[in-house]
Amino acid sequence: MALPTEQTQVVLVARPAPAVTADLFAVRRAPVPRPGPGELLIQVLWLSIDPAMRGWIADAPNYRPPVPLNEVMFGFTVGRVVESNHPDYVPGELVYGTQGWQEYAVSDGSDIDHKVDPAWGSPSAALGVLGHTGLTAYLGLLDVGQPKEGETVLVTTAAGAVGSVVGQIARLKGCRTVGLAGSDEKVRLCREFYGFDAAINYRSAGDRLADLVAEACPDGVDIFFDNVSGPLAEAVFPLLNTRARVVQCGTIGIASDGSANGPRPGRTVLAKRIRWEGFLVLDHFDAFPRALADLGRWVADGRIRHREDVVEGLASAPDALCGMLAGRNLGKVVVKVARDTAKA
Ligand SMILES: NC(=O)c1ccc[n+]([C@@H]2O[C@H](COP(=O)([O-])OP(=O)(O)OC[C@H]3O[C@@H](n4cnc5c(N)ncnc54)[C@H](OP(=O)(O)O)[C@@H]3O)[C@@H](O)[C@H]2O)c1
Repeated sequence: MALPTEQTQVVLVARPAPAVTADLFAVRRAPVPRPGPGELLIQVLWLSIDPAMRGWIADAPNYRPPVPLNEVMFGFTVGRVVESNHPDYVPGELVYGTQGWQEYAVSDGSDIDHKVDPAWGSPSAALGVLGHTGLTAYLGLLDVGQPKEGETVLVTTAAGAVGSVVGQIARLKGCRTVGLAGSDEKVRLCREFYGFDAAINYRSAGDRLADLVAEACPDGVDIFFDNVSGPLAEAVFPLLNTRARVVQCGTIGIASDGSANGPRPGRTVLAKRIRWEGFLVLDHFDAFPRALADLGRWVADGRIRHREDVVEGLASAPDALCGMLAGRNLGKVVVKVARDTAKA
C-alpha cells in the first residue's frame, strides 16, 4: 500500500482550567515523516485513553513534565512498523510504545517498549489487560499489596480497566473481593462478569456509603487498592485491619494540581501499622515480561475477563478522554485510529 503524504494529528492547545474539555485539543494536518538511518516509521492503529492524561496535560508537579502546548498529545499506542532502517525492527511487526495521538510516527526505538505478539488476539488488548492497565493491576496488587488467601481486597474504579483486573487477580489468589463503582450497570458488571463477591454503587450510596462498605467487608479490609482517593478513601480507612496495605494507584477523585486537602489518617496508619505505598507502573518495566506471561495465560484460559470501550477515529480522542473522566466508559477505553490493512 502506498504511503500517504499527509496525516492527522491531535495537538494540545490549552491547559485544563481545571476541567478537561475537548476544546483543549485541536486536530491538524501534517506531513507523514520519513525514517532516517537507524529509524523506523510506525502507523498507529490503536491508542489508549488514560485518566493519567488529566495530569499529563496540566502544568502542575507530576512524575513527568507536562505535554507542551501545540505538540502532539502524548499517549500509549499500538502500531505497525511500515518502514524500517532500524536493526531491531522489520516491516509488519506490531509495537507497543508512546507514539501519541497521530497516524504516523518516526521512532529511533527509544519510545517503543516491546513488540506485540499477534497470538494475543486483537492488538488493542496490548493497551489494556495485556498492557499498562493489566500490568498496573498485576504488579500493584501482587508486588505491593501482597495478597494472602482469605484476605479482603477492596478496589475503587472496580468496573474499569485497572480495577476489574485487580478484582479478578485477587479472587484467583483466594481473597474476598469488594468493588466500588459509579453506576448500577457497573455494579452488575462487577458482580456478574468480573466475579466480585460484593460491589457498591458509591454514587447512589450518598451518606450510607461507609455503612454499605462496612456491611460488604465484615472482616475489615486487608488490601485497599485505591484508584480514587478523597471521600471514597475516607469511607474505607476506618475499616482497615492491622497490617493492612494501601496501594495508592490513582487519585481520579481529587484535583490533580496538588491542592487536595482532607482528613489526616496518621493515627490509623500508626496504630494499625499500615503500609501505604504509591505505585506507578512506569517504574516497573523490568517486571513486564513476568507479569505478561501470567496475564496472557489467564486471559487465554478465561480466568481473567476484560471489556473494551472502542471509540472510532483519532479525532474522537478528546471526547473519549472527557467521557472516561465523567465515568461514561464500560471497560478499557481505546481509540481505533486505523484499520489494520497489513497484518503480518
Ligand atoms: N499508578 C499507575 O501506574 C496507574 C496506571 C494506570 C491507571 N492508574 C489509575 O487507575 C485508575 C483507573 O484507571 P483506568 O485506566 O482503569 O480507567 P477506568 O477505571 O477504566 O476509567 C476511569 C473511571 O474512573 C472513575 N471515576 C471518574 N471520576 C471519578 C470520581 N470523581 N470518583 C470516583 N471515580 C471516578 C469512573 O468510574 P465510575 O463510574 O466507577 O466512577 C471512570 O469510568 C485511575 O485513577 C488511573 O489514574 C494508575
